[in-house]
Amino acid sequence: MAVIISIVNQKGGVAKTTTAVNVAAALGAMGKKVLLVDLDPQGNATAGLGISGGAKRELEYTTYDVIMGEVRPAQAVIKTRFKNLWLMPSTQALAEAEIKLLKFENKNLQLKKAILQIRDEYDVILIDCLPSLGVLALNGLNACDRIIIPMQCEPYSLEGVAELIAIVKRVKKSSNRSLQVMGIVFTMVDSKLKVNREVMRAIKSKFPEDIFFNAEIPRNVRLTEAPSHGEPIMYYDPNSKGSEAYGQLAREVAKKCKAMEEML
Ligand SMILES: Nc1ncnc2c1ncn2[C@@H]1O[C@H](COP(=O)(O)OP(=O)(O)O)[C@@H](O)[C@H]1O
Ligand SMILES: [Mg+2]
Repeated sequence: MAVIISIVNQKGGVAKTTTAVNVAAALGAMGKKVLLVDLDPQGNATAGLGISGGAKRELEYTTYDVIMGEVRPAQAVIKTRFKNLWLMPSTQALAEAEIKLLKFENKNLQLKKAILQIRDEYDVILIDCLPSLGVLALNGLNACDRIIIPMQCEPYSLEGVAELIAIVKRVKKSSNRSLQVMGIVFTMVDSKLKVNREVMRAIKSKFPEDIFFNAEIPRNVRLTEAPSHGEPIMYYDPNSKGSEAYGQLAREVAKKCKAMEEML
Protein backbone atom coordinates (compact mmCIF):
# COMPACT_ATOMS: atom_id res chain seq x y z
CA MET A 1 0.00 0.00 0.00
CA ALA A 2 1.44 3.33 -1.05
CA VAL A 3 2.66 5.97 1.33
CA ILE A 4 0.99 9.17 0.13
CA ILE A 5 3.06 12.35 0.32
CA SER A 6 2.00 15.87 -0.63
CA ILE A 7 4.61 18.45 -1.57
CA VAL A 8 3.24 21.64 -0.08
CA ASN A 9 4.10 25.29 0.37
CA GLN A 10 1.57 28.05 -0.27
CA LYS A 11 4.33 30.18 -1.72
CA GLY A 12 5.10 29.84 -5.44
CA GLY A 13 8.58 29.31 -6.82
CA VAL A 14 10.05 27.47 -3.82
CA ALA A 15 10.75 24.26 -5.83
CA LYS A 16 7.67 22.20 -4.99
CA THR A 17 7.37 20.90 -8.54
CA THR A 18 11.12 20.45 -8.97
CA THR A 19 11.14 18.41 -5.77
CA ALA A 20 8.05 16.38 -6.69
CA VAL A 21 9.30 15.48 -10.18
CA ASN A 22 12.84 14.64 -9.16
CA VAL A 23 12.05 12.71 -6.00
CA ALA A 24 9.40 10.77 -7.93
CA ALA A 25 11.85 9.85 -10.69
CA ALA A 26 14.61 8.92 -8.24
CA LEU A 27 12.28 6.70 -6.20
CA GLY A 28 11.16 5.03 -9.42
CA ALA A 29 14.76 4.37 -10.43
CA MET A 30 15.33 2.83 -6.99
CA GLY A 31 12.66 0.26 -7.81
CA LYS A 32 9.61 1.80 -6.14
CA LYS A 33 6.42 1.99 -8.13
CA VAL A 34 5.57 5.68 -8.10
CA LEU A 35 2.55 7.79 -9.05
CA LEU A 36 2.95 11.56 -9.34
CA VAL A 37 -0.33 13.47 -9.09
CA ASP A 38 -0.23 16.95 -10.61
CA LEU A 39 -2.50 19.08 -8.42
CA ASP A 40 -1.65 22.43 -9.99
CA PRO A 41 -3.58 23.98 -12.91
CA GLN A 42 -0.22 25.29 -14.18
CA GLY A 43 0.65 21.69 -15.03
CA ASN A 44 4.36 22.17 -14.42
CA ALA A 45 4.89 18.62 -13.14
CA THR A 46 3.07 17.34 -16.22
CA ALA A 47 5.33 19.38 -18.49
CA GLY A 48 8.39 18.41 -16.45
CA LEU A 49 7.69 14.78 -17.37
CA GLY A 50 7.50 15.65 -21.05
CA ILE A 51 3.75 16.09 -21.46
CA SER A 52 3.34 19.49 -23.08
CA GLY A 53 2.03 21.03 -26.29
CA GLY A 54 0.30 18.44 -28.46
CA ALA A 55 0.70 15.61 -25.96
CA LYS A 56 -1.07 17.76 -23.38
CA ARG A 57 -3.98 18.54 -25.71
CA GLU A 58 -4.39 14.83 -26.41
CA LEU A 59 -4.86 13.88 -22.76
CA GLU A 60 -8.18 12.16 -22.33
CA TYR A 61 -8.63 12.68 -18.60
CA THR A 62 -6.76 14.69 -15.99
CA THR A 63 -6.72 15.39 -12.26
CA TYR A 64 -9.69 17.71 -12.88
CA ASP A 65 -11.95 14.85 -13.99
CA VAL A 66 -10.80 12.73 -11.06
CA ILE A 67 -11.33 15.38 -8.40
CA MET A 68 -14.78 16.18 -9.79
CA GLY A 69 -15.64 12.50 -9.41
CA GLU A 70 -16.32 12.13 -13.13
CA VAL A 71 -13.87 9.32 -13.90
CA ARG A 72 -12.10 6.61 -11.92
CA PRO A 73 -8.56 7.68 -11.02
CA ALA A 74 -6.99 4.84 -13.02
CA GLN A 75 -8.58 6.32 -16.16
CA ALA A 76 -6.54 9.50 -15.81
CA VAL A 77 -3.21 7.88 -14.97
CA ILE A 78 -0.66 7.55 -17.77
CA LYS A 79 2.64 5.70 -17.84
CA THR A 80 5.61 8.01 -18.36
CA ARG A 81 8.72 6.99 -20.31
CA PHE A 82 10.67 7.00 -17.02
CA LYS A 83 11.29 3.88 -14.97
CA ASN A 84 8.46 2.91 -12.59
CA LEU A 85 6.87 6.33 -12.90
CA TRP A 86 3.20 7.04 -13.60
CA LEU A 87 1.51 10.46 -13.84
CA MET A 88 -1.94 11.87 -13.22
CA PRO A 89 -1.58 14.94 -15.44
CA SER A 90 -3.15 18.33 -15.03
CA THR A 91 -4.16 21.20 -17.26
CA GLN A 92 -5.59 24.69 -16.81
CA ALA A 93 -9.04 23.06 -16.50
CA LEU A 94 -8.19 22.21 -12.89
CA ALA A 95 -8.55 25.91 -11.99
CA GLU A 96 -12.32 25.53 -12.46
CA ALA A 97 -12.42 22.88 -9.76
CA GLU A 98 -11.42 25.49 -7.19
CA ILE A 99 -14.88 27.01 -7.64
CA LYS A 100 -16.93 24.00 -8.68
CA LEU A 101 -15.83 21.98 -5.64
CA LEU A 102 -17.42 24.50 -3.29
CA LYS A 103 -20.85 23.00 -3.88
CA PHE A 104 -19.69 19.49 -2.92
CA GLU A 105 -20.60 18.29 0.53
CA ASN A 106 -17.13 16.85 1.17
CA LYS A 107 -15.30 19.37 -0.97
CA ASN A 108 -11.94 18.87 0.77
CA LEU A 109 -12.04 15.07 0.55
CA GLN A 110 -12.65 14.50 -3.17
CA LEU A 111 -9.01 13.70 -4.00
CA LYS A 112 -8.63 11.44 -0.98
CA LYS A 113 -11.70 9.44 -2.00
CA ALA A 114 -10.22 8.91 -5.45
CA ILE A 115 -6.62 8.19 -4.45
CA LEU A 116 -7.69 5.53 -1.96
CA GLN A 117 -9.04 3.51 -4.89
CA ILE A 118 -5.56 3.14 -6.40
CA ARG A 119 -3.43 3.21 -3.28
CA ASP A 120 -2.69 -0.52 -3.40
CA GLU A 121 -1.16 -0.27 -6.86
CA TYR A 122 1.83 1.89 -5.93
CA ASP A 123 4.60 2.06 -3.34
CA VAL A 124 4.63 5.85 -3.18
CA ILE A 125 2.13 8.47 -4.37
CA LEU A 126 3.46 12.04 -4.54
CA ILE A 127 1.07 14.96 -4.91
CA ASP A 128 2.50 18.19 -6.36
CA CYS A 129 0.30 20.90 -4.79
CA LEU A 130 -0.46 24.34 -6.16
CA PRO A 131 0.77 27.48 -4.39
CA SER A 132 -2.33 28.34 -2.35
CA LEU A 133 -4.23 27.20 0.70
CA GLY A 134 -7.62 27.03 -1.03
CA VAL A 135 -9.90 24.08 -1.54
CA LEU A 136 -7.59 22.30 -4.02
CA ALA A 137 -4.63 22.54 -1.67
CA LEU A 138 -6.84 21.29 1.18
CA ASN A 139 -7.65 18.29 -1.01
CA GLY A 140 -3.90 17.70 -1.20
CA LEU A 141 -3.52 17.96 2.58
CA ASN A 142 -6.40 15.59 3.22
CA ALA A 143 -5.38 12.97 0.69
CA CYS A 144 -1.91 12.32 2.16
CA ASP A 145 -0.23 10.70 5.16
CA ARG A 146 2.79 12.97 5.12
CA ILE A 147 3.87 16.30 3.68
CA ILE A 148 7.25 17.47 2.46
CA ILE A 149 7.80 21.22 2.67
CA PRO A 150 10.36 22.69 0.27
CA MET A 151 11.70 25.88 1.80
CA GLN A 152 13.94 28.59 0.46
CA CYS A 153 16.67 29.80 2.70
CA GLU A 154 15.37 33.34 3.11
CA PRO A 155 14.36 35.24 6.23
CA TYR A 156 10.76 35.73 5.09
CA SER A 157 10.26 32.00 4.36
CA LEU A 158 9.83 31.39 8.05
CA GLU A 159 6.46 33.07 8.46
CA GLY A 160 4.86 31.17 5.60
CA VAL A 161 6.08 27.79 6.79
CA ALA A 162 4.95 28.51 10.36
CA GLU A 163 1.48 29.39 8.98
CA LEU A 164 1.47 26.21 6.90
CA ILE A 165 2.36 24.05 9.90
CA ALA A 166 -0.50 25.65 11.86
CA ILE A 167 -2.90 24.71 9.05
CA VAL A 168 -1.50 21.17 8.94
CA LYS A 169 -2.27 20.87 12.65
CA ARG A 170 -5.82 22.07 12.03
CA VAL A 171 -6.38 19.59 9.20
CA LYS A 172 -4.95 16.82 11.35
CA LYS A 173 -7.42 17.62 14.11
CA SER A 174 -10.48 18.02 11.91
CA SER A 175 -10.26 15.57 9.00
CA ASN A 176 -6.94 13.75 8.53
CA ARG A 177 -5.66 12.25 11.75
CA SER A 178 -2.70 10.47 10.20
CA LEU A 179 -1.28 13.69 8.73
CA GLN A 180 2.30 14.54 9.72
CA VAL A 181 5.18 16.58 8.39
CA MET A 182 7.70 14.14 6.91
CA GLY A 183 10.26 16.88 6.62
CA ILE A 184 11.36 20.31 5.49
CA VAL A 185 13.94 20.46 2.71
CA PHE A 186 16.03 23.53 1.94
CA THR A 187 15.97 24.29 -1.76
CA MET A 188 18.03 26.56 -4.03
CA VAL A 189 20.76 26.73 -1.41
CA ASP A 190 23.72 28.84 -2.36
CA SER A 191 26.32 27.70 0.11
CA LYS A 192 28.82 30.27 -1.13
CA LEU A 193 26.58 32.95 0.35
CA LYS A 194 27.48 33.42 3.98
CA VAL A 195 24.08 34.97 4.65
CA ASN A 196 22.41 31.76 3.37
CA ARG A 197 24.13 29.74 6.10
CA GLU A 198 23.21 32.27 8.75
CA VAL A 199 19.58 32.35 7.71
CA MET A 200 19.56 28.55 7.65
CA ARG A 201 20.85 28.41 11.20
CA ALA A 202 18.24 30.93 12.32
CA ILE A 203 15.42 28.99 10.64
CA LYS A 204 16.63 25.69 12.08
CA SER A 205 16.59 27.11 15.59
CA LYS A 206 12.82 27.69 15.29
CA PHE A 207 11.91 24.05 14.59
CA PRO A 208 12.71 20.68 16.14
CA GLU A 209 16.00 19.53 14.65
CA ASP A 210 14.72 16.22 13.26
CA ILE A 211 12.14 17.96 11.05
CA PHE A 212 14.84 18.84 8.47
CA PHE A 213 16.06 16.46 5.80
CA ASN A 214 19.84 16.09 5.74
CA ALA A 215 19.79 16.55 1.98
CA GLU A 216 19.97 20.17 0.87
CA ILE A 217 19.24 21.08 -2.72
CA PRO A 218 21.84 23.44 -4.17
CA ARG A 219 21.02 26.12 -6.69
CA ASN A 220 21.97 24.36 -9.91
CA VAL A 221 21.42 25.59 -13.46
CA ARG A 222 20.86 22.00 -14.71
CA LEU A 223 17.75 21.84 -12.51
CA THR A 224 16.44 24.99 -14.20
CA GLU A 225 17.05 23.53 -17.66
CA ALA A 226 15.68 20.02 -17.16
CA PRO A 227 11.92 20.91 -17.22
CA SER A 228 12.13 22.45 -20.69
CA HIS A 229 13.57 19.14 -21.91
CA GLY A 230 10.69 17.29 -20.22
CA GLU A 231 13.06 15.19 -18.15
CA PRO A 232 13.76 14.68 -14.46
CA ILE A 233 17.31 15.71 -13.54
CA MET A 234 18.57 12.14 -13.14
CA TYR A 235 17.81 11.53 -16.81
CA TYR A 236 18.78 14.99 -18.07
CA ASP A 237 22.11 15.18 -16.24
CA PRO A 238 22.72 12.34 -13.79
CA ASN A 239 26.13 13.68 -12.80
CA SER A 240 24.95 17.16 -11.85
CA LYS A 241 24.97 18.47 -8.30
CA GLY A 242 21.18 18.75 -8.50
CA SER A 243 20.79 15.11 -9.44
CA GLU A 244 23.06 14.04 -6.61
CA ALA A 245 21.12 16.10 -4.08
CA TYR A 246 17.70 14.85 -5.19
CA GLY A 247 19.05 11.30 -5.13
CA GLN A 248 20.05 11.78 -1.51
CA LEU A 249 16.67 13.31 -0.66
CA ALA A 250 14.87 10.38 -2.33
CA ARG A 251 16.90 7.90 -0.28
CA GLU A 252 15.87 9.70 2.91
CA VAL A 253 12.24 9.71 1.77
CA ALA A 254 12.43 5.98 0.98
CA LYS A 255 13.82 5.28 4.43
CA LYS A 256 11.00 7.21 6.11
CA CYS A 257 8.44 5.44 3.90
CA LYS A 258 9.85 2.08 4.91
CA ALA A 259 9.46 2.94 8.58
CA MET A 260 5.86 3.97 7.83
CA GLU A 261 4.92 0.92 5.79
CA GLU A 262 5.11 -1.16 8.91
CA MET A 263 2.42 1.04 10.42
CA LEU A 264 0.06 1.10 7.43
N1 LIG B 1 17.78 23.95 -7.02
C1 LIG B 1 17.43 24.75 -8.04
N2 LIG B 1 18.37 25.38 -8.76
C2 LIG B 1 18.02 26.19 -9.78
N3 LIG B 1 16.77 26.43 -10.17
C3 LIG B 1 15.78 25.82 -9.50
C4 LIG B 1 16.05 24.95 -8.40
N4 LIG B 1 14.87 24.48 -7.92
C5 LIG B 1 13.91 25.04 -8.68
N5 LIG B 1 14.44 25.86 -9.63
C6 LIG B 1 13.71 26.66 -10.62
O1 LIG B 1 12.94 27.62 -9.92
C7 LIG B 1 11.67 27.81 -10.53
C8 LIG B 1 10.54 27.50 -9.54
O2 LIG B 1 10.60 26.11 -9.18
P1 LIG B 1 9.28 25.23 -9.09
O3 LIG B 1 9.70 23.85 -8.74
O4 LIG B 1 8.45 25.39 -10.32
O5 LIG B 1 8.58 25.91 -7.84
P2 LIG B 1 7.05 25.75 -7.31
O6 LIG B 1 6.52 24.47 -7.82
O7 LIG B 1 7.19 25.78 -5.82
O8 LIG B 1 6.32 26.96 -7.82
C9 LIG B 1 11.65 26.89 -11.73
O9 LIG B 1 12.01 27.63 -12.85
C10 LIG B 1 12.72 25.85 -11.42
O10 LIG B 1 13.29 25.31 -12.59
MG1 LIG C 1 4.79 24.05 -8.92
